[in-house]
Amino acid sequence: MIILGIETSCDETAAAVVKDGTVVLSDVVASQVAVHTPYGGVVPELASRKHVEAILPVIGRALEQADLTREAPDAVAVTQGPGLVGALLVGLSAAKAMSYALDKPLIAVNHLEAHMHAAFLGKGPPEKPLVCLVVSGGHTALYQVDPGGGARLLGGTRDDAAGEAFDKVAKLLGLGYPGGVVIDRIAPQGNPQAFPFPKAFMEKESLDFSFSGIKTAVANFVRRHGLPGSGPQGGPYRLEDLAASFQEAVVEVLVTKVVRAANGAAVRDVAVVGGVAANERLRMRLREEAAYHGLTLHLPESRYCTDNAVMVAAAGYYAWKRAGFCPNPLDLDARSRWY
Ligand code: KG4
Ligand code: ZN
Repeated sequence: MIILGIETSCDETAAAVVKDGTVVLSDVVASQVAVHTPYGGVVPELASRKHVEAILPVIGRALEQADLTREAPDAVAVTQGPGLVGALLVGLSAAKAMSYALDKPLIAVNHLEAHMHAAFLGKGPPEKPLVCLVVSGGHTALYQVDPGGGARLLGGTRDDAAGEAFDKVAKLLGLGYPGGVVIDRIAPQGNPQAFPFPKAFMEKESLDFSFSGIKTAVANFVRRHGLPGSGPQGGPYRLEDLAASFQEAVVEVLVTKVVRAANGAAVRDVAVVGGVAANERLRMRLREEAAYHGLTLHLPESRYCTDNAVMVAAAGYYAWKRAGFCPNPLDLDARSRWY
């Protein structure tokens, strides 16, 4: 079963061809980072316009890389939501047009489920039941995925997503967008214990998250001490120390909750997916704690953590397998909010 996947939920225009949910035949991502960087975040209207320009060439490149004609894929899978409506509509329209013109079934995919399927791309896929943390720019949510494939929400953020906190802190430090990538690069040169930023563990057994407090703590710190490098001797403190301390606080909360969820549910396999799962410090701490607690950790390759269409094609394949095939109708609409 060869599936063409299409993803346009935020600021990446992506298309990919995947065979049987695991064999990646092509993977094309056109990033809009340069377009949004001057604004310090994604501008929805600009995102839609850039998707319109990029979508057909990106799909064309994905088919070319896979050495396939337009007619060759067995189905078209596309992200239906959640995401920016104008952005989603571009991918959806392209997928519907291909589905109609080429008479191929259309498979609508939930973006969070797509992120989860990135964990199934590597060797030794997770065994269910599985605890899965989806941690991205829009979401921070812990799920238990049962053997039947159903996902139950164990906890989520009560305010900002973890990636959003990275982006907002980077913005207030003038580091550009997306913030997680920049902070990840700077932090290894800093001392993670330099500043004790608050870690919101919530109530004793809680699996919920809150990241607005740490963002405010960093903003207050900068208000009190100025931007790094602004002092007479080149700054009252080092940017690297601030980045490392902020990152450490976020990482410790994420790691603690993943372990807490797995132990609480007596589940052995854990997966961490989504853009923030590309963070090197998070990956290192997860490996350490998984080994210590006897958990089997599944981390997608970094390129499959951030938005891509391989995960959409993979999720489409499993949806098809689960449901026995029942294509989505062509009047399918974009869903800005969807668990
Ligand atoms: O999954 P994703 O590409 O898009 C959403 O579905 O939101 O995630 C993007 C988020 C951004 O907030 C970005 O700053 C963050 O993931 N991110 C990272 C890293 N790479 C991307 N955060 C921390 N470290 C990284 N290396
Ligand atoms: Zn995403």
